[in-house]
Parts: sequence; structure tokens; C-alpha cells
Amino acid sequence: MSRRVLVTGGAGFIGSHVVDAHVAAGDEVTVLDDLSSGRAANVPAAARLVRADVRSATARALVADGAFTILNHHAAQMDVRRSVADPVFDADVNVLGLLNLLEGARAGGVRRVVFASSGGTVYGEGASLPIPETAAKLPASPYGTAKLASEYYLAMFSQLYGVEAVALRYSNVYGPRQNPHGEAGVVAIFGSRLLRGEPLTVFGDGEQTRDMVFVKDVAAANLVAATCPLPLPLDLDARAYNVGTAIETSVNRLAALMAEVSGRRPDVRRAGARAGELRRNALDPAKAKRELGWMPDTGLPDGLAATIRWLRED
Ligand SMILES: NC(=O)c1ccc[n+]([C@@H]2O[C@H](COP(=O)([O-])OP(=O)(O)OC[C@H]3O[C@@H](n4cnc5c(N)ncnc54)[C@H](O)[C@@H]3O)[C@@H](O)[C@H]2O)c1
Repeated sequence: MSRRVLVTGGAGFIGSHVVDAHVAAGDEVTVLDDLSSGRAANVPAAARLVRADVRSATARALVADGAFTILNHHAAQMDVRRSVADPVFDADVNVLGLLNLLEGARAGGVRRVVFASSGGTVYGEGASLPIPETAAKLPASPYGTAKLASEYYLAMFSQLYGVEAVALRYSNVYGPRQNPHGEAGVVAIFGSRLLRGEPLTVFGDGEQTRDMVFVKDVAAANLVAATCPLPLPLDLDARAYNVGTAIETSVNRLAALMAEVSGRRPDVRRAGARAGELRRNALDPAKAKRELGWMPDTGLPDGLAATIRWLRED
């Protein structure tokens, strides 16, 4: 049976793949996006695009009146460094924006909210790898703090109003449609520089690691999270799932792999380590496998090849 789904941030990188997955599943999809970093061209013709800010009355009314069963929330201020420079703006979009939508969801009887959280920022440094959901939470940025606060708001809405909420804690997502101008997408940045024959800049010794997860696998996790049975009791970590691979990849290795996949020999330049960057990261996806039946199934070389192909065509 077709469901009515609202995807916020659906014109952006990850959100647009979530839209594609819901459309392919036969759902009726509406996208809410202010196009501040997203592109209307990312939204498939089968979905309706409403251009509005998540903090606006228009957005709240859309959620309240749209008869949606699922609210999938991907719209965000997603630049960690900008959150440090302007924590008030970050909280305005990422916390108050969510709250505005949740008030709409409550009024409109939305059954389930799927939320894009961040496993790269809510845990902070120091947990043993790969990190399970139950690890200590110690965000080191306003962005990570807002993501964790959002998870608490969702859990509170579940308790007070019975709205079902699922938080997906992503590792580093990469793939087609990622904006190379943003700060988060090392693959998009390396890929577009490689294809233009420009040097790659590696910060620090390049041995810092990331857990790279392919965007189509992330979209698949969102589809499962839209309908999976949810465990009781209403505990923050019980309703959260790591969406990662448990595999650490160093930035040096990533640069080498991308050079191989694209058939280029880049000039690699070194720059000073960036303050506040995590040294190592890998998320344990065992709970998502056990409870959602979700597993990442795109290997890094294949995912990188698909990304390079897209960058060549874009
Ligand atoms: N990219 C990653 O590796 C990663 C990792 C963890 C979590 N996330 C989360 O996933 C979500 C999507 O990230 P992305 O990488 O696709 O980024 P993105 O910038 O491509 O997507 C964000 C979308 O939200 C829209 N948007 C921003 N502010 C808005 C506002 N005030 N009102 C309405 N729309 C607004 C943008 O136009 C854009 O289309 C974000 O919540 C982000 O925090 C991303």
C-alpha cells in the first residue's frame, strides 16, 4: 500500500536518495527543502517539491495538514565548522527547526519520524572502536550537541504523544550528488579535484580514519526504518541505529584508492592538522543488522567507482 511520506532536505545529497528509495517503493513523496544547499534537479519528477524553511509556519502547516504517515528529517545546517563559528544559527535550524516540524507532526497525526543523526559527532573521541550505540555521548561541537538534543526531543515526543521516532546515526556518507563545495565530503572534494587534475590536500599525517558508507546503503536503511517494529522501552539508544560499516579507512588510503579508481596520479600536498578533527572513527552496525536486517553492501572500491562515474557525467 502506498504511504504518504514527507522528506525534509530531499533536494540534498542523502535526502534525494531517500526520496528515490521511497518513490521506488511506490510511496507518495513530498519534499520540503529551502534549496540553501540542495538542488531542485535532485528531486525526481514523481515527487512534489515544496520550497520552504523548516523553521517556517509554511513548513509546520505542511506537516500538520499533509496527512503524512512518515516524516523523514534530513534538512539541516550540516557544516560542523560553521556550527562552531555560529552555534546559535546551528541550533536555530537543527533544534528549533526540528521542534517546529514535530509540533506539526503531532497536530497532523504523523505516525513515524525517521531522523538523520550523526555517529561521527554524537559520541566524540575516546570510545573503543567500532563504536556501539550505547557508548558514552560527548559531542565536541554545537552540531553534534544539536543532533543529540534532537534525539532527546524525539524520545520525549514519543513518550508524550506516541509519535514513533527512529534515529539513524550515520558515519561518513559518500556517493553521487554530494556537494564538493561543502566541508564534510572528502570523497566529493578529492573526486572533483582529481578529475580536474588538481592536487589533493591531506591535513595532518593523513592517518586519521573515517568509516565510509555509501549513500544508497544509507537510503536503504531509511526505508527499513520507516516501518520496522520498534523496541520498548523508550530508551534513547534503543531507538537509535548506527549506519556505518565498522571499517576504518585512512585519508591516505582513500586518496590512493580514488587515484586508482579514476586512473589519475594526483599530486598530494600536506597541510597542518585541523583542530577538533576526530583521529579515528568506525561505527558498529551490528544492532541495525540484528534488529532491522540492514547491512551496508557496497564495498568502498565499487562505491568510489560509482561516485567518480557520476562526477564525470555531472
Ligand atoms: N553527509 C554526511 O556524511 C552526514 C553524516 C551524518 C549526518 N548527516 C545528516 O544527514 C542530513 C543530510 O545531509 P547531506 O549530507 O545530504 O547534506 P545536504 O546539504 O546535501 O542536505 C541538506 C538539505 O537540507 C536543506 N536545508 C538546509 N537548511 C534548511 C532549512 N532551514 N529549511 C529547509 N531545508 C534546509 C538543504 O537545501 C539541503 O537540500 C543532515 O541532517 C546531516 O546532518 C550527514
